[in-house]
Amino acid sequence: MDRPAKERKRKKGRQMTDTKITLPESEIPTHFYNIAPDLPTPLSPPLHPVTREPVGPDALAPIFPMGLIQQEVSLEPMIEIPGEVRDIYRLYRPSPVFRARTLEQFLDTPAHIYYKSEHVSPVGSHKLNTALMQVYMNRREGVKRLATETGAGQWGSALGCACKLMGLECMVYMVRASYDQKPYRRIMMRTYEADVVASPSNLTASGRAVLAEDPHSPGSLGVAISEAVEDAVGREDTKYALGSVLNHVLLHQTVIGQEAIRQMELAGEYPDVLIGCHGGGSNFAGLAFPFLRDKLRGGQRKLRAIAVEPRACPSLTRGKREYDFGDVAGLTPLLLMHTLGHKFIPPPVHAGGLRYHGAAPLVSHLLDAGVIEAEAYSQGEVFASALQFAQCEGTIPAPESSHAVHSAIQHALRAREAGTREVILFNLSGHGHFDLGSYESYLNGTMDLNA
Ligand SMILES: Cc1ncc(COP(=O)(O)O)c(C=O)c1O
Repeated sequence: MDRPAKERKRKKGRQMTDTKITLPESEIPTHFYNIAPDLPTPLSPPLHPVTREPVGPDALAPIFPMGLIQQEVSLEPMIEIPGEVRDIYRLYRPSPVFRARTLEQFLDTPAHIYYKSEHVSPVGSHKLNTALMQVYMNRREGVKRLATETGAGQWGSALGCACKLMGLECMVYMVRASYDQKPYRRIMMRTYEADVVASPSNLTASGRAVLAEDPHSPGSLGVAISEAVEDAVGREDTKYALGSVLNHVLLHQTVIGQEAIRQMELAGEYPDVLIGCHGGGSNFAGLAFPFLRDKLRGGQRKLRAIAVEPRACPSLTRGKREYDFGDVAGLTPLLLMHTLGHKFIPPPVHAGGLRYHGAAPLVSHLLDAGVIEAEAYSQGEVFASALQFAQCEGTIPAPESSHAVHSAIQHALRAREAGTREVILFNLSGHGHFDLGSYESYLNGTMDLNA
């Protein structure tokens, strides 16, 4: 028997007592897992915004490099990660899985709670996983500058960082509500020499149109996307980068779940429930899709995967699945997704990264097929759980990630009532060090708890 096989045999059936389950750099995945060929029915194609005909790769070429467009429509089950990207992943990957022992004790639950720690990346979230890959693919095709939107600033910081590490310029349209609430994210982006403006801005026709209607608009991801797409289409040297929603972005995040599968093997357990917060779908998909491969191929029938969204922006739990634009101005192709309507501007809740009217087509497809589930919670419930988590585990979760924390706690409490030893694994998609203003508003009692 070779050594890894012996090791696996030794570990199987025996639970690990470690709190932190780590992997060596040699176990950074070499490929992304593409769920598309495993779907029960094929995904419907995006449609042209004017003709409503399926769009071919050429229609997307003004905004994305061909390498990413190919990944968007690929049916290859595994897609290789370039060596240069894997080398930069070494700065923070593989990320650890923690067993939340103190939280379990505090909740007095027989459930085992694990979390995958994407907050350990240099920028503090999972967003760097796709940012590095997107910058790499753009640079390979001669692109010099990327334009993007950002909500809470996590995606903007990640793209800014990736652009700096690989030598591209970066232009970020940051949703006004977050621009005002989160000054440190702005400074972080500027530290990486990215240009940052509040959206809606006066720099684009779509921004000016929103400002004309409401000069105090808090903005939304949909508005900021319109601005960034317009910027990219208007300049030869620039393409657009999206931090979530699209197939290729979800694909890049599957490094998370692939590592977690190995880490849960080392822990000697298999999850009953997978949980991720849901803005556009990328961190949820990143954790869940590699596990769902087993379920889609006929194994692990009971495995549950739950996407958790804010009650203020309930695209999965309340939205309709229909063709809609990805942005407010209607510049993007139409995607078949759960949506609240592209004109929907969510209330300015603190989880800025979850304020998006739509959901990833892949996540929407799996929800309709009954493969995954969705839950929605209010801001007050989510922050109460975020505090419990921080006080037990030390780490202060991002407001977005706190939705996953809250759901994990609800499932652990239900396991206590039922007396079952459920194994829960959730994705801690980011830390909340730059979101302390939202914690302050919770602690001061000024937060709208019901939003
Ligand atoms: C920490 C964190 N988690 C989650 C999200 C939501 O995005 P997604 O659903 O693509 O993971 C964001 C978005 O900005 C984020 O910053």
